Amino acid sequence: MTSPVHVLGVDIGTGGVRALLVDATTGTVLSREQGAWSSSSPHSGWSEQDPDTWWNTTSSAIRRLVERLDDPLAIKAVAFAGQMHGLVLHDEDGNVLRPAILWNDQRTVSQCEKVHDQIGRETCISITGKPVLTSFTAPKLLWVQEHEPDIASRIAHICLPKDHVLFKATGTRVMDATDASGTSWLDLSSRNWSETMCNSTGVNPSWLPPVQESSEVVGAINALGAAATGLPEGIPVVAGAGDQAAAGLACGVTREGLVSMTIGTSGVVFAQSDTPPQDPSGTLHGFCHAARDRWHVMGCMLSAGGCLEWWRNIVGRHDDAAGFDELVSEASHLPPGAEGLCFLPYLNGERTPHNDPHARGAFIGLASRHDQRHMTRAVLEGISFGLADMLDLLRHAGHATETIRVAGGASRNETWMQMLADVFQVTVEMVNEPDATAYGAAMLASIGAGTVADAQAAADTLVHVTGTCEPGERCFKQARSTWKTLYPELAPAMHRLSDQSMTC
Ligand code: XUL
Repeated sequence: MTSPVHVLGVDIGTGGVRALLVDATTGTVLSREQGAWSSSSPHSGWSEQDPDTWWNTTSSAIRRLVERLDDPLAIKAVAFAGQMHGLVLHDEDGNVLRPAILWNDQRTVSQCEKVHDQIGRETCISITGKPVLTSFTAPKLLWVQEHEPDIASRIAHICLPKDHVLFKATGTRVMDATDASGTSWLDLSSRNWSETMCNSTGVNPSWLPPVQESSEVVGAINALGAAATGLPEGIPVVAGAGDQAAAGLACGVTREGLVSMTIGTSGVVFAQSDTPPQDPSGTLHGFCHAARDRWHVMGCMLSAGGCLEWWRNIVGRHDDAAGFDELVSEASHLPPGAEGLCFLPYLNGERTPHNDPHARGAFIGLASRHDQRHMTRAVLEGISFGLADMLDLLRHAGHATETIRVAGGASRNETWMQMLADVFQVTVEMVNEPDATAYGAAMLASIGAGTVADAQAAADTLVHVTGTCEPGERCFKQARSTWKTLYPELAPAMHRLSDQSMTC
């Protein structure tokens, strides 16, 4: 009898960590653990987290999972994936210099403009696959250099969130190509650091780690990592991936012609590309994929599930799947359009399609007959319409969008999935593991452990469609066309309000 091969996939998310222990041959999820953390917003538009909290919470979650196992030595590889773009600064000794500045932080508008003025927006798009945007890492470094020179003078290493955790677990400094392609420092074609981009954004090349492909074994759990997590020392660790590339893999998007959508805090549409993607308008963004020598194109809404989480907290429902299902179910009895109420989901500004850091959220159309159910319905519809905007962009760019695969916690809720099928007028498929980022990480670890040859083989053997929603009548047509007029009309007011909140 052959001994079992287990792998551990860990998602360092925005809301917390999720760890999945997976049978690397069948894809069966054997055990799961999670832990939560929160963000702080010291000023309007800022978003920060403490990297030490990531490590403490993650190592405790892994320890709880390992303590339940009969044979931890069956774990043959580990992979970390997670929230992208966040700037983590280390000093010479590996200490964290300041809180991480996250992907949904909007403080760097002027730094982005400065880079575009210096080398040209088109040059940035042609080298990195997209303009320099507030979400990305390079402008965050420029901000620290401008505003916190004492901290900037002590920088010795730059990491992304999951790479900070990988460093704590292994002592290895590395960045995988998918996450590196979200920094604005990577040349998308060569999958290596771009001298032009590094020179124009104040980065000393010695601060950046080597770039590796996602499934490459880059290190092993070291003594400190083993002591903190309970994992046996010496287990190989692969480079891992940014959350979106990992989730795309977990949806089986390893060929051109398949499109996925992940609804986490952010909302993402994702399509694979055999060549480095170029959108001269800079609206859709090109990244390296977790499949070797493959790329992907992506649109990202900054607050998708994040809006629903915000709303669930406001109305005081349980912070779990049951609380979420209860809210959706109450709203599901109302007609499309929420009886004349709209919600704009731009709580943290917006990336795709508007690229507007100063966009803000709104309920519009409130009347005294509306109650909480209408507001919940408007939030769900507003997120769905925002996702539909991005799907339209992919369709116009020539991607086949007749069927899309949806992952993320939201995909567990059939009512919302049917709403998406009706809004998009496409077939929506659900896949075997909704915790797509952690599962994608486990798939990368399976490649590292040698049970599957590559990303394509991992997708073919470890991803299955488990449910389908077919589009019904075009009942959202009217509501969506009204909704679409609102952002252009309200943007000037949103900008004034955003400016006021910055000066408060
Ligand atoms: C992707 C993006 C978000 C974050 C957090 O570009 O900004 O999806 O990775 O999930």
